[in-house]
Amino acid sequence: MDSKNYFDQVAREWDKMRESFFSEAVREKAFSFAGLQTGKMAADIGAGSGFMTEGLVRRCIQVIAVDQSEAMLEEMKRKFIGLQGVDYRVGEAERLPISDETVDYVFANMFLHHVESPSIAIKEMGRILKPGGTLVITDLDEHHFDFLKTEHHDRWMGFKREEVKMWLTEAQLRNVMVDCVGENCCAQSSHGRDFASISIFVAKGDK
Ligand SMILES: C[S@@+](CC[C@H](N)C(=O)[O-])C[C@H]1O[C@@H](n2cnc3c(N)ncnc32)[C@H](O)[C@@H]1O
Repeated sequence: MDSKNYFDQVAREWDKMRESFFSEAVREKAFSFAGLQTGKMAADIGAGSGFMTEGLVRRCIQVIAVDQSEAMLEEMKRKFIGLQGVDYRVGEAERLPISDETVDYVFANMFLHHVESPSIAIKEMGRILKPGGTLVITDLDEHHFDFLKTEHHDRWMGFKREEVKMWLTEAQLRNVMVDCVGENCCAQSSHGRDFASISIFVAKGDK
């Protein structure tokens, strides 16, 4: 099964799974790094069933939510029925369905470790930012829990912070910072023998 099929399959359960992995503190940290202002426009890349999107809309920010999985986006639509301010778009990390310099913020939570080329995905996210806009990525630090690859279709076993910093800099972003969220992502393996507890980083760059 590939990553898209995996996320199509777990779409209806994703919110419950997500709650068991990490809390809303992750998005609060991401939002505080972005210095959110109401009335602006954001993109949520690898939006899933809308964890980041929901927090943004609550702050009166319009969102373009992009995901490879139609089922995830359908789940978000089902939850947010009647809610204004979300534009749902099916799309791939390496070719985002958003024009150059469209949004004030780009958020990507727990998305980067699933993509084939993190450096290309970061350049794409930089491309859609308006000048003066901010990209904020929250994801996993480097780890050694390989059951996450087989059971959750992770492509990368987290990242070195220096590496993430370099990719943001190569994407021509300024004021690049990488810091701790202050929370771990936790998951139990299906056979019950391994328990992953992985620190989460927040990375930011301005265009
Ligand atoms: C771990 S989930 C995180 C979902 C959401 N951001 C959250 O925090 O709950 C990763 C999401 O990224 C999407 N994704 C993975 N690889 C992708 C790619 N190459 N292009 C677009 N979306 C992708 C998946 O379909 C999935 O919905």
